[in-house]
Formats: sequence, structure tokens, C-alpha cells
Amino acid sequence: MTEKGRIFSGVQPTGNLHLGNYLGAIRNWVGLQADYACIFCIVDMHAITIPQDPAALRSATREVTAAYIAAGIDPSNCIIFNQSAVSAHAELAWIFNCVTPMGWLNRMTQFKEKAGKQRDQALAGLFIYPVLMAADILAYKATHVPVGEDQKQHLELARDIAGAFNRQYGVEFFPLTEPLIFGAATRVMSLRDGTKKMSKSDTSDASRINLTDDADAISQKIRRAKSDAEMGLSYEPERRPEAANLLAIYAAFSDEAPADVAERFSGLGFAAFKSELADLAVARLAPINAEMRRLMAAPDHIDAILRQGAERADAIAAPILAETKDLVGFLRP
Ligand code: TYM
Repeated sequence: MTEKGRIFSGVQPTGNLHLGNYLGAIRNWVGLQADYACIFCIVDMHAITIPQDPAALRSATREVTAAYIAAGIDPSNCIIFNQSAVSAHAELAWIFNCVTPMGWLNRMTQFKEKAGKQRDQALAGLFIYPVLMAADILAYKATHVPVGEDQKQHLELARDIAGAFNRQYGVEFFPLTEPLIFGAATRVMSLRDGTKKMSKSDTSDASRINLTDDADAISQKIRRAKSDAEMGLSYEPERRPEAANLLAIYAAFSDEAPADVAERFSGLGFAAFKSELADLAVARLAPINAEMRRLMAAPDHIDAILRQGAERADAIAAPILAETKDLVGFLRP
């Protein structure tokens, strides 16, 4: 672990990796590599809490790996691996299930959203999803977790679970992990509705910019993004959510504050601003897109990176899991 601590974060390989995943999470990780020991996971066990096609899951696992590397994560420095390849995640999640009250899980807004009205039909895996997330983080005693804003509640629960374990067994074993939620775009909204989060599962492809979109698709989606009827631009997220979202995306790409971008472009109408934004987005995303394609053409290379990452991850997690099992009282015959 370096002086500043150990980072863990992950993305689900459920297809449609989008601009929210990039600006809210992956891009922020790139700058953390120099100062922290970093572990970046492709959380395939989380993905199956919603049924997945097996071949599509394998392909999406490679695609997320390619996106990490194309975005600038260095696999020779950071650990990149898929969750199911390291058994400590599942084993620790079980132990945590046994210190986590159902009431805590009942409060999770993401479960309520995903389960919808038919809660009885929701899979048990979806309900205990945040427990597995706590296990992901704590299997490495990670100190910091960089994510988008939508994961905040899950990270608070991970702290509660660490505390519950420590209390139950009278130890100070698991750390209380700090969320790192930063940048101009911690919550990128749908391009079709500024009050809805940009999401992999939105049925409208026009609602999101996928990391696999080419320059034409990116430009077109931005030019057709929903706007409002006011003249000029201003950054007022409550009153003008669509304008605020486009300004935040621009600001994330240009490393500015959204309000400053709004001031600079205040005289422009939506059409002219969207054209500026489209150019900037294409300039930033095209190299990533090209590198992802190059990497995806060599799946054996991706698999080798994941294999090596899993070995390195296991070397950290296995002793932590072994100690946890001792604390719980599992006999090592
Ligand atoms: P997932 O796969 O839904 O999203 C991956 C990352 O992208 C961020 N994100 C967004 N950020 C800004 N705007 C958006 N519209 C947007 N949509 C997604 C998410 O906040 C996340 O950082 N449960 C997690 C994966 C996970 C994990 C973990 C994360 C499993 N174990 C341990 C951290 C630590 C998830 O479903 O992310």
C-alpha cells in the first residue's frame, strides 16, 4: 500500500459502457494511479444480479477491460481483474451477509429502483448486491473508493458493514473506507431527459453516449440532445437540468467548473454550444474509442492481463480472508 492508501473500484460488464461511467468514474481513476495502490475490477458477479447472456457477459468483460486500459489505466502498475476470478469476494460476502440486517438493505434506493413494483420477484442476489460490494472493497482493506454519485449510498453501507463486523468480533480489523466522488460530472444525466441519470439500461440509445460510439454518432447525439426554450446558457441544475448537464459534460472534458463554462458561453444559443461540445467530446473520446477497438481485436492479450491481475489480487485478498475466517471462528483443520 502506498502512503496515501489503497484504491478499489469497479464497473459492471453489462454492455453499453457510457459517458457517465467514463466521466463519473474511469477517467478519475487515471489521475489516482500515481499516488495510490490501485485495484480496478470488472464486477461480473454483480452483473448477473440481472440475468445476462453468457457470451455477451464474456465479451462485455473484455470490453470494460479494454476501456480501462484505453482510458489510461496502466495494467503493469494497477491491478485489473474480473471479480469472479478471485474467490475471496464471494466468501467474504457470505460472512458479511451474516452481520448485515435486512433493514439496511431494504433502504437501498438502487434496489428499490431496480426491483420495481414486483419486489417478490426480484432476485436475492440483487437484494444482497451491496454486501458483495462491501466484500469487494474490504477484501483488500481498500481505504478509498472513487465512484460516481449514484454509488454513495452503497459506500455508506460498506462502512456500516465494516463497523458491524468489527463490533461483532470485537476487533478493529476492517477500515472505514472513504468515497472519492469528484470532478464536474459526478452524475451525468440522460441526453433525452435532464432529470434522469444516464444509464446502461435506458431503452433509448440516444439517451447516452456509448464509449463504442463513433465520431458521427457522438456528434449526432449531442446535437439532438434535449434542450430548453430559453435564450443563452446558464448553469442552474434545478431550473435548467438539460443545459446544466451539457455544461457539466463540457466542464468535465475541459477541466473547468460548469459555472465558468456557462459564463464563457453565456452569449451562445444551444445550437452553437452543442457544436462546440460535440467537437470537444469527439476529440477526447475518439482516441479512446480507437484504442478500445485495437485492444478488442486481441482478446488473448486482454485475457492475459486479467489472468495476471487476478493472481496479484488474490495474493492481497487471500491472507485478509484467512484472517477474517480465523476471527469468525472457522476451524482450519
Ligand atoms: P456501474 O457499473 O453501474 O457504474 C460504474 C461506475 O460509473 C459510475 N456511473 C456514473 N457516474 C456519473 N454519471 C452517471 N450517469 C453514471 N452512471 C454510472 C458509477 O457511479 C460507478 O462508479 N455497484 C457498482 C460497481 C461496483 C463497485 C464495487 C464500485 C461493484 N463493486 C466496489 C466500487 C467499489 C456499479 O454498479 O457501477
